Amino acid sequence: MKLWGTRFAKSQSELLELFNASIDFDKTLYKQDIKGSKAHALGLFKIKILTKEELDCITSGLDVIQKEIEEGNFTFKLAHEDIHMSIETRLTELIGEVGKKLHTARSRNDQVALDFSLYCNEENINLQHLILELITTLTNIASLHTSTLMPGMTHLQHAQPISFGFHMMAWVASLKKDYLRFKSALERNDECPLGSAALAGSVYGNDRDFVAKTLGYKRASMNAMESVSSRDFALDLDYAIAVLMMHISRMAEELILWSSYEFKFVTFSDEYSTGSSIMPQKKNPDVAELLRGKSGRTFGNLMALLTILKGLPLAYNKDMQEDKEGVFDSVETAKISLLILDASLKTLSIHKENMLAMCQKGHLNATDLADFLVKTHGIAFRDAHHIVGRCVLRAESLGLDLSKIDLHELKDLLPSDVDLKALKETLDLKACMERRDTLGGTASSQTALQIDEINSWLRCEQDSKKTL
Ligand code: ARG
Repeated sequence: MKLWGTRFAKSQSELLELFNASIDFDKTLYKQDIKGSKAHALGLFKIKILTKEELDCITSGLDVIQKEIEEGNFTFKLAHEDIHMSIETRLTELIGEVGKKLHTARSRNDQVALDFSLYCNEENINLQHLILELITTLTNIASLHTSTLMPGMTHLQHAQPISFGFHMMAWVASLKKDYLRFKSALERNDECPLGSAALAGSVYGNDRDFVAKTLGYKRASMNAMESVSSRDFALDLDYAIAVLMMHISRMAEELILWSSYEFKFVTFSDEYSTGSSIMPQKKNPDVAELLRGKSGRTFGNLMALLTILKGLPLAYNKDMQEDKEGVFDSVETAKISLLILDASLKTLSIHKENMLAMCQKGHLNATDLADFLVKTHGIAFRDAHHIVGRCVLRAESLGLDLSKIDLHELKDLLPSDVDLKALKETLDLKACMERRDTLGGTASSQTALQIDEINSWLRCEQDSKKTL
């Protein structure tokens, strides 16, 4: 018979059993369920519902169950519906009558909210570590390339020269914000739902703050009904993952472009490349393509959870059982994505010479020519823009790039007293890159500052994690 089955005259249909059960996926939460039950038992001992012997008996019974699950000796049965009832049933089997006392002052509603909240916080911390590792890898690559020229683009068209290190630090800047999003989600989820019971609290006077602190939370949740009805913590995590994966997808897209023959800025190592079943010559960037593609499911998981929760009356509704699989999927997707992106970057070959060659196409120094006229001749920028537009047309008609053209070819288009020697120095691509030395700019000194800032921030974050 079901733990809740006494008031039913007929047994449940097999079809409903299959439809209703969540054990196939919520067994993922076994550790959190056991941890929560131990803290709950301690709380029950504190209010004298359990004696010390009963507490010890329950605690060691739970330890045995954890071992059974971890060693593959636990039989999960559909009939036990979910992880909470599976563990409780097994506990009573193992330790007898005392096991039945554990569910005093608790409901599956606060139990599942707790298990899921603990899971989200633990995985949040795991993801934070992986993001810091990826930031470290990218910052190390950046520090080798603060002077490596590449074409900076807007609209995927050559725009201005930048350094490859600067581009890597742009990725880092996004990842730092991702990391902070995870951190703030963790800080917000600092309330323990346990002891809310079904929806209205319990009649046993349990010390909820004590149990909350035992479980590592700052406090017990303020309102019992809100805390069994809320999955805000899971939405926060889903959102943080979705934004992270959107960034990873954009990085992946650039890596895919850069590894094509048209660019050849980078080559993935063989360990992180795949071949074609028909075209023997192919080496494909499947890793990056999957990273780009996998963002989709994480956006879907976020939308699914929002949709499940929208319109639910307080308090718990069974719809909420649908909350878990999407979050598990997003977490696993983000973890493997961060790991494989990091590994692919650590083994990536970077082809400076091809980046430099591509800088000599698309008149990357055109803005600098206009800026030169503004600075040396006091010409209004808009007029300078027109002059340079004519220079670009001339260069194109000669089949030359502004970085290569003999400046005498442009002389009639420029002010008569222009200093061609100074202009030549101005138009040097490296000089153009180095000239953008405003805060956050691409000049190697500015990229170095960004690297320094990130390295000291990384040290602080890693130190604060050690003391946790
Ligand atoms: N398996 C359920 C879930 O995941 C546990 C909570 C069930 N509570 C209830 N009152 N039926 O949401």
